Amino acid sequence: MKITAKELRQKWLDFYKSKGHVDIGAVSLIGDGTTGVMFNVAGMQPLMPYLLGAPHVCGKRLCNVQGCMRTVDIDSVGDASHFTFFEMMGNWSLGDYFKKEKTAWTFELLTEVFGLDKDKLCTTVFEGDGSAPRDEETAQLLVALGIRPEHVFYLPKEDNWWELEGTVGTPCGPDNEWFYPIKNLDAPVFPDDYVEIGNDVYMQYKKTETGYEPLQNKNVDTGFGFDRMLLFLNGLQDAYLTDLFTGAIAKLEELSGKKYSDGGDDRRAMRIIADHTRTTVMLIGDRNGILPSNVGAGYILRRIMRRAIRYCRALGVSADAMLDVAKIFIREVYNESYPLLAEKEGYILDEMKKEAARFEATLTTGMREFDKCLQGIARKNEFMKKSDPSYEEEKTIGGKQAFRLYDTFGFPLELTEELAAEHGLTVDRAGFEEAFREHQEKSRALEKGQAKGGLESHSEMATKYHTATHLLNAALKQVLSPDCNQKGSNINDERMRFDFNFDRAMTPAEIQAVEDLVNEKIAEDLPVVFREMSLEEARRENFVGVFDSKYGDVVKTYSIGEFSKEMCGGPHVERTGVLGHFKIQKEQSSSAGVRRIKAILE
Ligand code: ALA
Repeated sequence: MKITAKELRQKWLDFYKSKGHVDIGAVSLIGDGTTGVMFNVAGMQPLMPYLLGAPHVCGKRLCNVQGCMRTVDIDSVGDASHFTFFEMMGNWSLGDYFKKEKTAWTFELLTEVFGLDKDKLCTTVFEGDGSAPRDEETAQLLVALGIRPEHVFYLPKEDNWWELEGTVGTPCGPDNEWFYPIKNLDAPVFPDDYVEIGNDVYMQYKKTETGYEPLQNKNVDTGFGFDRMLLFLNGLQDAYLTDLFTGAIAKLEELSGKKYSDGGDDRRAMRIIADHTRTTVMLIGDRNGILPSNVGAGYILRRIMRRAIRYCRALGVSADAMLDVAKIFIREVYNESYPLLAEKEGYILDEMKKEAARFEATLTTGMREFDKCLQGIARKNEFMKKSDPSYEEEKTIGGKQAFRLYDTFGFPLELTEELAAEHGLTVDRAGFEEAFREHQEKSRALEKGQAKGGLESHSEMATKYHTATHLLNAALKQVLSPDCNQKGSNINDERMRFDFNFDRAMTPAEIQAVEDLVNEKIAEDLPVVFREMSLEEARRENFVGVFDSKYGDVVKTYSIGEFSKEMCGGPHVERTGVLGHFKIQKEQSSSAGVRRIKAILE
């Protein structure tokens, strides 16, 4: 290590203190509500009122190293340089010094303290538009300091303007960005060989509804990414090789018996576990610490933790690995800069353990359920194509299925989306939200009352119809949606009637596909197997039925091959082969959102 994390932190603060700045320390990671942003996304966020003109008790020159969260990057975590939590090294002028001092100090820090080659430094400034003029002043100052004129680039607003997106009334302005070659090249070319290391924002405007208005003060807002700078100053290309992460990675190697340097999925998993565990520690251990929950910031934390747990499994370690990694962050990496973490260690680890237990209890069955969704979609596509070759393949996991994964198995929607993406599928988000609302409104009593099966007699024919009902139930789930559930049934010796929830009429092709599937299962002459088991076991094994019995109850179940699994009192035929030919005679509406099928065995 050319420079350790602790040294870098100290060098930044010492340098700005030597220029008259006061170290104001880091504040909570959790947004204070003034901007509507859930977490701090930049070091300046807590300083907003002072950049807008309020006096700060520590004066006009401030510096710190501030924790930030950027969940927008969560899907990139796993590569060499993206994080959900990171720190920003910052310093500020609140209406005090401006461009002349700031350019000189950044230049001095980079070239003299950090030893970067001034001939390789590149920098960009604002090219100007209707909101603010071209920043020639900064460009001239940079060249006067020793930056090569051909290394100063003018760029438009999308590159060289900094503001908190989606906010109004917040400070903003043109910025001056600093770049350095990522590798030790003799003749690096900008921008391809370069990486951004930080920026100085000249905050002299306020965002309004319609544009910008000048601020009373001309401020400076500087931000250099701590984690990235550390990587870069050590001549590394992989942030997980800096001393912020080497302890965590070594622990994961030890627990899994796998090697980080082998790369591939295991390395990606190690990075995700390390990053997400660090974020978890920071969020629970924050002075305004939060806990995993189903709303707001708590939901983000839950999502991060559950994602990490899933990757623990992928790596072949238990979720307890996160606890070991957490201890390294608390005791070794952030013990000096975040002493509160050590004070809260017991609490942090306990809460992590609880969340892991909550999720682990359902993860295996949830994954099985997810696989069933995939199979359902594949089957549906296969069947629909048989009857209609031009049928466009279904590539979406239904909102109700995603909701079931969320509600019953604790899968955050984003986790289902991520799993779906691994199979080239998307999730119906709007449908998920609708299912969420419906669930809240639904009266359970109604469902219970309607869902009981209506078996009127136990004749041989009625017994056959009863087994056919199970086949039909399973076929509808496969062809239409796993969310189709029995809402009622009525059988006599002549016919069966079956009600199920579905929000539109079935197409002729769907009716045909369902009929074909039932007849295929009859032709396979599948055994119908009766078993008694505990309710928990039935649930675990994905038997369908009404789970209104109490825990500990023994329930009767019938499975038909691998095709159908239902809790049911029977009676049933022994093999499907005896049923004859199944024919749907009618498909019609029964009540709102409920369809009715009339069918016969011939
Ligand atoms: N506010 C600036 C940033 O976040 C410094 O990059």
